[in-house]
Amino acid sequence: MDLSTTYLGMRLPHPLIVGAGPLGDDLDVVKALEDAGAAMLVLRSLYEEEITNEQMDAFFFAESQNDSFAEATSFEPEPVMSLGPDEYLEHLRLIKSAVGIPVIASLNGVTPGGWTSYARLLEEAGADGLELHIYHAASDMTMSAAEVERQAIEIVRTVKGSLHIPVAVKIAPLLTAFAHFAKQLDAAGADALVLFTRFHRVDIDVDELEVIRTLPLSDSSELPLRLRGTAALAGRINASIGITGGVHTGLDVIKATMAGAHVTQLVSALLRNGPNHLRTIRTEIEAWMQEHEWSSLGEMRGNMSFNRIPDPAAYERANFRMALR
Ligand SMILES: Cc1cc2nc3c(=O)[nH]c(=O)nc-3n(C[C@H](O)[C@H](O)[C@H](O)COP(=O)(O)O)c2cc1C
Repeated sequence: MDLSTTYLGMRLPHPLIVGAGPLGDDLDVVKALEDAGAAMLVLRSLYEEEITNEQMDAFFFAESQNDSFAEATSFEPEPVMSLGPDEYLEHLRLIKSAVGIPVIASLNGVTPGGWTSYARLLEEAGADGLELHIYHAASDMTMSAAEVERQAIEIVRTVKGSLHIPVAVKIAPLLTAFAHFAKQLDAAGADALVLFTRFHRVDIDVDELEVIRTLPLSDSSELPLRLRGTAALAGRINASIGITGGVHTGLDVIKATMAGAHVTQLVSALLRNGPNHLRTIRTEIEAWMQEHEWSSLGEMRGNMSFNRIPDPAAYERANFRMALR
């Protein structure tokens, strides 16, 4: 049975890859994931704030040397990182030297700026690719949707222009003209689009008057949003497509593939069930394909995309009206 796929220009034996998060933090866990058959590993993100903090550190250090900015010497930027830029590079080198699967570094940021030059260092440290997680909170009333998109596209173009390794772009679902934006990222040179960012859950503690942020693990109910986004893009962009969010079972992977995904990223499923869950999912995929007489994932990829089904409106609002009847 042929589960092979191509993602970021790399031929992979199957579409199960480890998504950005804590699974890449520990070398023993990474080795266990490789043993269990992970096709690729995305490391957790290095955040723009962490990089700019370090740049601020360097700035204040330089200023304190020539004593031209005396107040600055007493200023200590708050440390906000668990893995700072230097440690990140060191960790990336360590993981790369220990495993044979492709390792993708991740940069998370919002604004165009100096932090993007960090991508070069990640490439030099041996990353096989870079996942850019471009995030925008959308609560800024002075910035239009067009400007948010323009900034993101500029980031992708700048980073892409400075690297030789492929670049994936992880995007949020909260966009007014998602498909148009995706097409522009594609034109800016993104080698893959990763759908979609999963937000922290925000709640209000009414006794303590505090905002609470949690990140509960997902389940398969989060997949349909990604299926719809993927089905809308499949066959219409050059970039390959990865799904992140709600992939837990073999059937989830089959659905993702039919929508048009080249890979599925797993985080919650592996945090909950451990690395061996990769084996379970592969077995489920193969059993399903055998039962339904498919010999390769390639032949089903995108067969349920907007481009290929007779009634793409089934994914759209018309279906909402029908569902209400
Ligand atoms: C504990 C935890 C840490 C995460 N850290 C990152 C991160 O550093 N960068 C990133 O892009 N996504 C991060 N994510 C999001 C995951 O990569 C993924 O997109 C999300 O969890 C949805 O996939 P899932 O349903 O398989 O968990 C994190 C998720 C979890 C649960």
